[in-house]
Amino acid sequence: MPEDSAPGIHDLSIATTEFVLTHETLAAHQGIDPAKYHRGIGQVAMSVPAADEDIVTMGAAAAAPVIARHGADRIRTVVFATESSVDQAKAAGVHVHSLLGLSSATRVVELKQACYGGTAALQFALGLVHRDPAEQVLVIAGDVSKYELGSHGEATQGAAAVALLISADPALVRVENPSGLFTADIMDFWRPNYLSTALVSKSESVAAYLQAVEGTWKDYTERGGRPLSEFGAFCYHQPFTKMAYKAHRHLLDHCGHDSAESTLAAAIGNTTAYNAELGNSYTASLYLGLAALLDAPEDLTGQAIGFLSYGSGCVAEFFAGTVVRGYRAHLRSDAHREAIGRRREIDYATYRELHEFAFPVDGGDHPVLRETTGPYRLAGLSGHKRVYEPR
Ligand code: CAA
Repeated sequence: MPEDSAPGIHDLSIATTEFVLTHETLAAHQGIDPAKYHRGIGQVAMSVPAADEDIVTMGAAAAAPVIARHGADRIRTVVFATESSVDQAKAAGVHVHSLLGLSSATRVVELKQACYGGTAALQFALGLVHRDPAEQVLVIAGDVSKYELGSHGEATQGAAAVALLISADPALVRVENPSGLFTADIMDFWRPNYLSTALVSKSESVAAYLQAVEGTWKDYTERGGRPLSEFGAFCYHQPFTKMAYKAHRHLLDHCGHDSAESTLAAAIGNTTAYNAELGNSYTASLYLGLAALLDAPEDLTGQAIGFLSYGSGCVAEFFAGTVVRGYRAHLRSDAHREAIGRRREIDYATYRELHEFAFPVDGGDHPVLRETTGPYRLAGLSGHKRVYEPR
């Protein structure tokens, strides 16, 4: 498909939580050097949801400005990608659909394959828009990343959502064919239904990610994708921002290219600003990388961006997009910085209390304390049902 007629991302909006825990605070509690987090894994803070926040409230908060700007008349599909779903049967997107007052003539579905789910949603959306260019698809990717207290993964927790409006004539990024695909049955990171925190095989997860980089690139190249030298920047899934550097260095070395620090910084330096502050947001992480890149001052008009989406388990995809002329007029840079900057810093004891919070499972009425100052909240549980409301 010619680059100037491909469908793609028409709007992009992010949302996160009420609270933030800094790695300075976490390191002080653990009695370790904060440089391990700041320089070692490239993280400075993690978003922490209030008790009345979850993927639904973040997803609705991310999507509301998109609907306010474009209306919902052309949206006939909502796809919510997540691996921290709030119900085993009902799609989180149905709650969002209700909070946003979308038309009943809409299909709503939830997608899961670890952190890759957001890209699966994007690709399905592109297919729908290709079939009927009059339609737009609202893609929401949102997660709360939670590991056990004191585990290796704890410092990589985070929470955020991103809403993408996919259309035939996008204002931000056109998404190209082909994609490079890779799947391997591996247990590098997973969360059994009976656990609220994820399990990870620490070094295996990094190795699996790097293997997937090679695998997707091989398939992408064999299908006639662009040469590496044509890309102006690369967005990677960022479980922690240092991982993007590891992955890009691996790709450059694999292809026999120079992988000096300056080369890495030029290719991915502008993609890490949001993830370093928010922590791992699983399905949203790659698209927070794109948001940070587009919001940076450099003009990317016409440039090719490489996207590497990785979901443990594992499924991965490499694809390219080109930045549309005039994109800067459609960005939400101020709102994005406001969403990150407005979070209230909490101390370790408050973080621990929120981390350990769990609803009783007795089916009774359990209203939640009003904490969030975001636009939507989880009012409580009643009869095993989650009840959401505008704040
Ligand atoms: N100053 C500077 N750097 C320091 C330091 C200090 N004082 N102390 C340590 N470091 C460096 C280390 O040298 C190391 O650097 P390299 O990776 O370049 O070798 C880095 O900090 C991390 O140190 P450790 O490996 O000792 O840290 P750790 O044992 O806590 O494990 C981790 C790190 C594996 C990322 C762990 O946080 C983890 O398990 N995270 C969850 C799993 C994960 O994110 N895996 C990534 C791939 S899977 C995926 O992408 C899907 C997903 O979203 C989960």
